[in-house]
Amino acid sequence: MFPIRPKNLIFCTLSFYLLVPLLLFSLSWAKDIGRKGVYVGSKACQACHEQEYQNYVKYARKSKSFSSVLKMKKGLTQEEIRKCYTCHTTGYGKPGGFVSLEETPHLKNAGCEVCHGPSKAHAESGNPAYIKRKVSLETCQICHTPERVRAFRYKPLIHGGGH
Ligand code: HEC
Ligand code: HEC
Ligand code: HEC
Ligand code: HEC
Repeated sequence: MFPIRPKNLIFCTLSFYLLVPLLLFSLSWAKDIGRKGVYVGSKACQACHEQEYQNYVKYARKSKSFSSVLKMKKGLTQEEIRKCYTCHTTGYGKPGGFVSLEETPHLKNAGCEVCHGPSKAHAESGNPAYIKRKVSLETCQICHTPERVRAFRYKPLIHGGGH
């Protein structure tokens, strides 16, 4: 039996007070990875979601959205071109998002993560708790703004544009 001596009691109490905060800290840290996340790019999803990946590459214009910017960049200032990146790339201006063609080529198109959110933690673990399945129309409207919908006479439906 574990003898109840003052020395052992102190030891137990101390380790309790040390371990509990440590446990709470690591739990909140694990949750943070899932929530904040980092972008990985669409290619990283292919191994586990071949069907969605192939559909996206074949049918979604998002998979070529960077080339749309390149096509029209003549006559635009660097400043104006950077504005295009907000919608035509993945995560531009956000932590771990697109920076430039040289630094982050894997994020140059508007990829899976513009709808499903930054997915590094999910892609590394395959854990569905780390990914957003339900995509709201508000998410689409960040890029498919009212002016753009008018200009293109086109309103996206929730199940188009991805796969
Ligand atoms: C290592 C394998 C793996 C990789 C890589 C991966 N996933 Fe998954 N994903 C899974 C598994 C396993 C599930 C859960 C199985 C299921 O419900 O079909 C899942 C489920 C999902 C779901 C549905 C979640 C739900 O609640 O049903 C979405 C959306 C998703 N993944 C998106 C992505 C995206 C986007 C990427 C790339 C950034 C990606 N996945 C990369 C393994 C992976
Ligand atoms: C990060 C910005 C962004 C978000 C978020 C976004 N889109 Fe798009 N989407 C684009 C861009 C950019 C294009 C045009 C790509 C091109 O032609 O260069 C596009 C094209 C489309 C198209 C045109 C046809 C096709 O199949 O490519 C549809 C449909 C579409 N999006 C639907 C949606 C829907 C539905 C949502 C929300 C679930 C959504 N989009 C969210 C940026 C976005
Ligand atoms: C607010 C988000 C947003 C910004 C900023 C943006 N785009 Fe787009 N762009 C879109 C969306 C959404 C579509 C798809 C429109 C549709 O089909 O409904 C699109 C489509 C396009 C297309 C395809 C047109 C076609 O029908 O083939 C080109 C080219 C394009 N954008 C170039 C640019 C350039 C260049 C810039 C910067 C000067 C830019 N975009 C800025 C969201 C944006
Ligand atoms: C334009 C937005 C958009 C893009 C881009 C997008 N998805 Fe989705 N995804 C959705 C929507 C909407 C659903 C359906 C969610 C629901 O069930 O309500 C979905 C569902 C899924 C699911 C769950 C299974 C299913 O088919 O319902 C997986 C897995 C998935 N997406 C993976 C991907 C991968 C991998 C990519 C990139 C190759 C990607 N998605 C790109 C919008 C998008």
